[in-house]
Amino acid sequence: MRESIFLIGAGNVGYHLGRHLVDRGCRVTGVFSRSIEKAQALSELTGIPHCHTFNEIDPTADLYLLAVSDAAIAPAARSLYQMGIRDKLLAHTSGATPSSVLRPYSTRYGVFYPLQTFSRERVLDFSKIPLCIQANGKEDEALLFHLGERLSEAVYRIDDQQRAVLHVAAVFVNNFTNHLFQAGWDILERESLSFDLLRPLIEETAAKVLAYRPSDMQTGPAVRGDQATVDRHLEYLQEQPQLQELYRLLTRHINPDLEV
Ligand SMILES: NC(=O)c1ccc[n+]([C@@H]2O[C@H](COP(=O)([O-])OP(=O)(O)OC[C@H]3O[C@@H](n4cnc5c(N)ncnc54)[C@H](OP(=O)(O)O)[C@@H]3O)[C@@H](O)[C@H]2O)c1
Repeated sequence: MRESIFLIGAGNVGYHLGRHLVDRGCRVTGVFSRSIEKAQALSELTGIPHCHTFNEIDPTADLYLLAVSDAAIAPAARSLYQMGIRDKLLAHTSGATPSSVLRPYSTRYGVFYPLQTFSRERVLDFSKIPLCIQANGKEDEALLFHLGERLSEAVYRIDDQQRAVLHVAAVFVNNFTNHLFQAGWDILERESLSFDLLRPLIEETAAKVLAYRPSDMQTGPAVRGDQATVDRHLEYLQEQPQLQELYRLLTRHINPDLEV
């Protein structure tokens, strides 16, 4: 793919996308970031030229990838529009925001959503990350699809409605589970016990859900209907009412017959 790409945003997603686009030989002609440090970090690693004000953005790129916070997608697209970038393909990287937020700012718009959790400090194998692609025109959809194939073996055409649903499911399997891991961490920390004790359990839980239907692998007092153990856990959590409430809610959801 010889089209030139301009990256807007050098946060968690922008950083990883920028690195992998360059690794895969794509032509990234610049990165815009409000934060100088983040743009510099990406620039030093990849050689992508960086800028910090919208009027420094190269108006001749073929594709503008908007890897900015969801609330900033429309304002960033508006800034490009105000600079006269109007007939270029704009694509954002969000699971939660419809592609139509870009419609007022270009005749050509789409989505390039990598379905993974990104943190700058983590090295990722991009080739395994599902890329959810969408565009309002067939040619642009093909362009984004081919770009996706440069990065990943798993590229899918996913429309706004499907992506919104995927995002809800992703919040359950990633954001909520991560929050629950932190709850486990906090409980052990209060008792001066090491989180290392839980690491093998976390690994086996993840390994099982990759191989089986999660509900078939459910263990623990709730699914066993073990009221006495559930009561003891609730008693232990009395001093942490928010965690106790969360425990009740999840227990009830696993087994509505228990008294919680
Ligand atoms: N992180 C994930 O796991 C993940 C996964 C898939 C998709 N996404 C999506 O990818 C997008 C970026 O997420 P992220 O995790 O990379 O977020 P992030 O790390 O918080 O980075 C957000 C970027 O947006 C910039 N930004 C925020 N407000 C702006 C504004 N008003 N004008 C210009 N730039 C602005 C930030 O600049 P500063 O650094 O200067 O604040 C930063 O470069 C979001 O739509 C998100 O939903 C995230």
